[in-house]
Amino acid sequence: MVDIKNVVVVGAGQMGHGIAQMALLAGYNVTLVDIKDDFVDKGWSKIDAGMKKLEAKGSLPDGASATSLMANCKKSIDLASAVKDADIMIEAVVERMDVKKGVFKTAGENSPSHCILASNTSTMSITDIGKDSGKPDKCIGMHFFNPVPLMRLIEVIYSDDSSDESVNIGLKFAETIPCLRGKRYVPKVLKDKPGFICNRVTAPAQIYQNYVFDKAAAEGFSWDQLDNDGLGGPMSMTVLADYVGIDVLYHGQSYYAETLSPDFAPGKVITQLFNEGKLGAKTGQGFRDWTKGRPAPDKSAGKAKLYKLKYPLAILLNEACRVLEEGITTNWKIIDDTLMAGMNMPGPMAANQKTWDRQIAVLEELVELTGKEYFKPCELLKSGKWVEFKP
Ligand code: NAI
Repeated sequence: MVDIKNVVVVGAGQMGHGIAQMALLAGYNVTLVDIKDDFVDKGWSKIDAGMKKLEAKGSLPDGASATSLMANCKKSIDLASAVKDADIMIEAVVERMDVKKGVFKTAGENSPSHCILASNTSTMSITDIGKDSGKPDKCIGMHFFNPVPLMRLIEVIYSDDSSDESVNIGLKFAETIPCLRGKRYVPKVLKDKPGFICNRVTAPAQIYQNYVFDKAAAEGFSWDQLDNDGLGGPMSMTVLADYVGIDVLYHGQSYYAETLSPDFAPGKVITQLFNEGKLGAKTGQGFRDWTKGRPAPDKSAGKAKLYKLKYPLAILLNEACRVLEEGITTNWKIIDDTLMAGMNMPGPMAANQKTWDRQIAVLEELVELTGKEYFKPCELLKSGKWVEFKP
């Protein structure tokens, strides 16, 4: 098993700078790579500011200072030379297959033979990303969650070509990466399937959401009325969609429509907002106007009475059973723990040990209501045998 000392993080954006900061805190030498000096400098400065904050709170590891840790963070715009003595590369560049494949090819051709090549993609096939790297057995997925310092989950994913050794090195490495809010949770993902575990289990709820958005628009309800149907968490339905980004939803849903089922295709409302460039918080307008800060739904508007919480709960359970059925993981507790660590939300499995059979009728009702076949209860749910996939 290689002893990892040198880590190269490619992409100094939102995810890359967070990954680099946590790797520095773990004591690794880090090289941060991007395509322009300006981008690397921006990422480096964000890490530096984060380290200084931790220093002011007395939260740095014993004997370390912000200055000493940042001395271990090199900058580069030349990937080929940056990976010359790398033990692991973590790619966090834009979500484009051609760009990711290019990074893996350059890294594969220029890194030492033992170097692990990991991708932080949230949706794409690790197998395809690593195919032209020259060492597909060394390519794995390492999926962090945003913001990296605070979200406990890192999914470590097998591609079709990963060796057991590469995945085990990835797991051990991920377990050494600190988290500022609790203990890291590092599940092994056994199959290279869209969305892996966390995003996959929560993805089909978007089919239902699209149905609700489109129905609200067709029946003339306001977004305030629709939002008032929800649970009233920190962000309502439309505000959360804007916050995540209409483009992110549109591309994600299109990808799942290609790889899982056409039922995931973006709905009319999301497509229209996307085509009009109303991408949410980042453009100042999406479902809502963000030009004066985060919008708050008007509670006095009343309810649309379209969104029913029983449906997303049943959808979650069904998809979690599919994840077991497809062999993506081996037991139901891993799914619950993954959702808690990646999204701070309780998973559907422990809660449904005795009540799962009621969810079958809810799902059948939902197929009837929406016409979406994807909501049909899967065989493993119907048989009830999923409860036997015990820890
Ligand atoms: P971002 O847009 O903040 O950063 C991407 C960075 O990659 C940019 O600085 C860009 O200049 C750089 N880049 C582009 N091409 C490059 C190349 N050839 N070589 C080196 N650097 C290059 O994007 P973000 O949000 O950090 O996402 C990065 C990856 O992480 C994507 O694959 C995304 O799907 C994944 N991800 C994102 C999450 C999120 O919530 N933002 C959560 C989990 C995964």
